[in-house]
This record gives sequence, structure tokens and C-alpha cells, in this order.
Amino acid sequence: MDRILVEGGKALRGRIEIGGAKNAALPAMAASLLTDAPLVLDRVPDVVDVGTMRRLLQMLGVEVRHPPAAAHRLVLHCPEVLETTAPYDLVRRMRASVLVLGPLLARAGRARVSMPGGCAIGPRPIDLHLEGLARLGAEIRLEGGYVEATAPRGLRGAVIRLPKPSVGATENLMMAATLARGTTVIEEAAQEPEIEDLARCLVAMGARIAGAGTKRIEIEGTERLHGGEHRILPDRIETGTYAMAAAITGGELELVGTRLELLGAAAEVLQEAGVELVAEGDRLTARRSPRGLVGTDVMTRPFPGFATDLQAQFMALMCRAEGAAMITETIFENRFMHVPELMRMGARITVHGPTALVRGVPELTGAPVMATDLRASVSLVLAALAARGETEINRVYHLDRGYERLEQKLAAAGASIQRLP
Ligand code: EPZ
Repeated sequence: MDRILVEGGKALRGRIEIGGAKNAALPAMAASLLTDAPLVLDRVPDVVDVGTMRRLLQMLGVEVRHPPAAAHRLVLHCPEVLETTAPYDLVRRMRASVLVLGPLLARAGRARVSMPGGCAIGPRPIDLHLEGLARLGAEIRLEGGYVEATAPRGLRGAVIRLPKPSVGATENLMMAATLARGTTVIEEAAQEPEIEDLARCLVAMGARIAGAGTKRIEIEGTERLHGGEHRILPDRIETGTYAMAAAITGGELELVGTRLELLGAAAEVLQEAGVELVAEGDRLTARRSPRGLVGTDVMTRPFPGFATDLQAQFMALMCRAEGAAMITETIFENRFMHVPELMRMGARITVHGPTALVRGVPELTGAPVMATDLRASVSLVLAALAARGETEINRVYHLDRGYERLEQKLAAAGASIQRLP
């Protein structure tokens, strides 16, 4: 298994290109199941999760082309759904595989998707996806670890009120509703920028959707969708991660191809914590403020609140701040696996239930540490960049799920970082 070695203490300087959002690319790829015409997606990041979704879609009957001249373009074409089962082996590897449920059901009238089960960051049920699809008329059974959903007479529009704003459930239901008879309203929908992006993709395919990005999304069903072209929005989590990399090392990075407003509340929190962010067109300059990093409390919330996907990185940053920071995780139950690893590097952190109290320390020191999930892993990279001495990060396949060319991007900005097989 690969390891990453980081020799800390180098201030990062230079430009880093921000890619398309993994969490927008995955649902947009699943949307290709909704039509028999080609869907062209641009700015698709070259990360392992995209490869996993690609394999799943190919099993279901989607032809996937990657034109050699356009590095981040995928052409997805599903003339006919050949298979309606998403097998355990792929769903276990990537929970976002459940995003094929809504599209399969809407187009083929049936879907069999393995129940994802728990994952490193908590139990993560899919009850809201299933209840919503049942409201659209699907019959749902659980059999042998699989969700078996059928809609022999097609789906019909309904009002669905989500008890909490789930990103995946909103996406699954929005896709299913595009081919349902009549109008669907999703109330208390998730408002993440990736939802709005998926809606833009679906609209380019002929869907009729209003309100995506707000709490109330209205979808008027249509008999068929056509092909379309869509460019995936910039990855806000990659943006926030590299902004914090600039600040924790005391350097300055120009992040190219991204937008400040995608960060939501995280933009203010970062600035309060001493990360200067200056936006100009499609670029963002991030550097540590001359007053230094200051302990800043934060609570993760659904968008526009502070993203849970930035919590681990922010904790690494706060390890080097002046004073203390109280970090509360409200979205996932078990998203503090980075804490013991950061403590091996000299961090002072106390966890009480969903809250971690981080007391800033004058120095972190390199140590062998273990990556546990995507964002936890990258938080260890941030800590390592700022630490004295060498850090060896094991199990880095987690990083490859969501960060394209992480070591190359950091090395080009002056980090001493290398991957060892
Ligand atoms: C998406 O996961 C992202 N994944 C996650 O990104 C992200 O952390 C999360 O949204 C929150 O922003 C993708 O977009 C592919 P949810 P998702 O449904 O859709 C509970 C990363 O690092 N819930 O919004 O699975 C759930 O347990 C990751 O890139 C139910 O109870 O998240 C959680 O507490 C990991 N029942 C809360 O809702 C359900 O049916 C929000 O989860 C669904 C969710």
C-alpha cells in the first residue's frame, strides 16, 4: 500500500488549479442513466471515486468515453439499461453508488441496489432516499442486503418533506422526479452548491426544475430527457483545503478556477481564524494573516453552514492557532478519527461527544500516522506540511478517492512531499 512522506516546515507559494467537484461529478454521471442520448460532462476530476462510478455505470449499460484530447471530459451514453443491480462490492467501496437508485427506477422501472451499511464516519442510513422514492410510488423491499425497488406503472409526482436536508436523498429524488408523471416538490431539500449543479445538468438534458439551491425544489416531470452538455462546478472542499494549506504553512497560494462564495460560511470562519482570502474573478488568493492564526469555534452545518467535509482540515489548522477552538460536528457521528492521529503529532485535543476542544500548540512534530477517511487523511497532510520533521502517512488510498494529483499540486507549490509504493 502506498505511503506519503512529508518533510514539514516549507511555506507553500504558487498557483494551484482547482478541479471539478467530486461530489457534483458523481450524481451528474448517474444522471446519464436517465436518457438514451449522450451526456457530455466537462471538468470531471480524475479521482478514484469517479473511476468507481464509471465502472458501476458501465455494468448498468452506460458506454463511457474519455476523449484523449480533453483530459477532464467524459461522454456517457446509455442507449438501453442492460442491468439494474448495483452490487455490494461497488456500493461497499463507495456509498455514492446509491445515486443510481433514483435514475434506474425512473428509466427502467426497477432497481436493485446493495444497502451501503455503515462507513468510517458513521452509520449513514439511506432511509430518506427510500421513503422519498416510496412517496413517488415505488414499491420497496429489503431482501438479502439489497434494496429492491420497482415502479411497474412508472413514478408519479408527490410532495416530499425531508425530515433533514440530506444531500444524497435530495439528488436521488430530484433525478427520479424528472421522469415522473406530474409535479414533485421537495421541501427541506439540501441546498449544497452540488445540488444546484446537478439541477443545471438535468435542465441541460431537458428537465424542468425550479428552486434548486433553496429549501424548496419543484420538478415538473417529463416523458423523456435528451442528451446535453454540462461543466461541473469547482470543488469547494478542495478550495478550502488548499486555502488552509497556504495558511498553516505561512505561505500564499493562488487558487485558480474557483469561487469564494462556494465556501459559504466557511469563508467567514476561515477569515476570522486568520486565513486571508482575496477573490478576483475566478481566482482566490489565500495566505495567513499577519496577526497569525487565532482559535475560532465552529459547528458543522448543512450548506450554507460550515461544511463537515472541511472540519478535519480546520482542526489541523486550529492545532497551530493562538488560543483554543471548539469544533462541533453535527452531521456525522464518528468524524473525529483524525484526532488521535493529530495527537500523535503533538496536538492538544480533548473530545467530549460531538465536540473537540483544540488548544493551539507552538509546534507540531512529524510522526507516522494513518489515514482513515478522505478528509481525515488530508487533515494529516496539512498538519504534516506545518510540522517539524518527517511525517509518514499510511493508507493513502483514501486521499486518491477525492483529491486529484495532491502530491504533485503541493510539490509544485514548494512542499517536500513524495509518494512511496
Ligand atoms: C454527501 O454525503 C457527500 N457525499 C459527503 O461527502 C458529505 O460529507 C455529505 O453530503 C454532507 O455534506 C457526496 O456528495 C457523494 P447526507 P451524503 O445524506 O449525501 C443523515 C466527502 O468527504 N441521513 O447529506 O451521504 C446522514 O447519516 C463526503 O466527500 C439519514 O439519516 O450525506 C447524515 O447524518 C463524505 N438518512 C446526514 O443525514 C438518509 O437517508 C447528512 O447526510 C440520508 C442521510
